[in-house]
Amino acid sequence: MPETLELNTAAKRLYNRAVKGEILEIPPVWLMRQAGRYLPEYMKVREKHSFLEVCHTPELAAEVTLQPIRRFGFDAAILFSDILVPLVPMGADLRFEKGHGPQIANPIRHDEDMRNVKSFDVHDGMADVLEAIRLLRRELPEETALIGFVGAPFTLSTYWIEGGKPEPFANVKRLMYHHPDLFRGLLDRLGDMITDYLLAQVEAGADAVQVFDTWAGIMPAHEFRAFNLPVLQRVFAKLDDAGITATYFAKGSDHLLTEMNELGSRIVSLDWRTPLSRARREMTDGKILQGNLDPTILLADEETIRREVRRVLEEAEGKPHVFNLGHGILPMTPIPSVEILLDEVRRSA
Ligand code: CP3
Repeated sequence: MPETLELNTAAKRLYNRAVKGEILEIPPVWLMRQAGRYLPEYMKVREKHSFLEVCHTPELAAEVTLQPIRRFGFDAAILFSDILVPLVPMGADLRFEKGHGPQIANPIRHDEDMRNVKSFDVHDGMADVLEAIRLLRRELPEETALIGFVGAPFTLSTYWIEGGKPEPFANVKRLMYHHPDLFRGLLDRLGDMITDYLLAQVEAGADAVQVFDTWAGIMPAHEFRAFNLPVLQRVFAKLDDAGITATYFAKGSDHLLTEMNELGSRIVSLDWRTPLSRARREMTDGKILQGNLDPTILLADEETIRREVRRVLEEAEGKPHVFNLGHGILPMTPIPSVEILLDEVRRSA
């Protein structure tokens, strides 16, 4: 297909138009974790295949990415994978055990553990995920954008340092306070890796990318500024140079609005605790906001869901906006709740 024709098709996608700053009557909508355990068709795939098997088999990863698109017709698909998957070619011994979440058997706690951290070529180490993206771009409806993603250096480091579920971040903070150079070194290595990986995801066919920094909110603003801002600014500057549209998401980030405004991502995705109107006032003109319905609202009755969806839409004040949840959809979410959410967003014109 000639390149210009492909560009024209991509420019028609509602998501792509909104993230270029166009004000649309109806915002594009997708949901974090939109593929996953609340969908019976996902659970059917998981009966036969482990989570990591799904992530590493291009046909299966593409299939579960498509499931919520077929069922709901979201404006964007998010590649099915996990933020921790690229830590494996970097040297992490990663497992997902039922009921335990992710576990890494070789945590990074000391200088000598850095010897386990390897550099790798993302085209080799992540070949299966990049192939899933190529399959998806062929199979997705033309009007559906494809979002690639990574974990942010800080959030990735919390899993690797703690060896799994990071709370209460004791080892992370120990490393940050007692060995700041080692900690920064790890963040830089992760920053280089995610930059290469995101560039490769876009080269393979992703329209835009999102950087998940789930745990950044545990840092006060001065720590975020000292440790997180420099590495993320480098990542987003490189993406920007390559013309890539990027979203930054951090949970519990109400105290970091000023810092997030300086990162260099075009879109900032907020959790449900920050009113979009307040974030808008703290951010530069042209910054696009994503979010931020509380995922637990989808467990409520229809009237409440509709009312809260309208509240988020009103908070967006007619400025460029990507409708989403404030964090991932919960596994116990009833499917009709998602249908009601979509109906309410799309009747907003
Ligand atoms: O959004 C999407 O639908 C795309 C796929 C996606 C997954 N994880 C699939 C997944 C994305 C973007 C992620 C990101 C991710 N993974 C984050 C950042 C965003 C967030 O939710 O805060 C984090 C911190 C992880 C790490 C992770 N992966 C944890 C802590 C867990 C276990 C907890 C849980 O919910 O089971 C996972 C597993 C995981 N990642 C599942 C899915 C669908 C569940 C796997 C299964 O049992 O089938």
